[in-house]
Amino acid sequence: MHRDRIKWNAKYHRRQSPSSPSRIVKNYAALSRKGRALDIAAGTGRNSVFLAGLGFSVDAVDISDVALRRLAGRSPNLHPVCADLDTFDIRPDRYDLICNIRFLSRRLFPLMIEGLAPGGILIFESYLEKQPGSDKGPTCRDYLLGENELLHAFLSLNILYYRETGGPVASLVAMKK
Ligand SMILES: C[S@@+](CC[C@H](N)C(=O)[O-])C[C@H]1O[C@@H](n2cnc3c(N)ncnc32)[C@H](O)[C@@H]1O
Repeated sequence: MHRDRIKWNAKYHRRQSPSSPSRIVKNYAALSRKGRALDIAAGTGRNSVFLAGLGFSVDAVDISDVALRRLAGRSPNLHPVCADLDTFDIRPDRYDLICNIRFLSRRLFPLMIEGLAPGGILIFESYLEKQPGSDKGPTCRDYLLGENELLHAFLSLNILYYRETGGPVASLVAMKK
């Protein structure tokens, strides 16, 4: 959505973003074959850069051209894709690894499942509705996960890891059968 691009471009102009990869990506990427990876809502690419360094060929999709510009020339394995995930399609059976960190579009859930090749790995972490004492993450409920929602959404996959405690996020790692 055009509004999202304006909002996120302004954020990325204003502030620095973390450059170290998410812990869950660092800990679980090794479960995947080193092939094609999709980083959904990649931002400035902390996870994309990490995966490219491991040898994945990474499609880094985000709506913010300002964020993606910081990825330019970082690695020949990195392919920034400036696109709106509200309408983006994922080609079936295409990816060995899909990661989705700190972003939520429920429309993409079935597309992610289809987009994984057999044996492919999904790494997903995003904010929960119940965030006692936390001021992190979005406030609009459309962008927040309900209790066990992430787990139920991906039950057709083989769930390797699931956690809702220890922070304001739900975390899932799963493999396509
Ligand atoms: C909290 S950041 C997370 C970035 C990255 N995954 C990370 O963990 O560092 C959310 C990202 O979602 C992107 N985004 C928001 N709405 C989007 C949309 N409709 N299409 C594509 N990207 C979108 C923003 O530009 C932003 O980079």
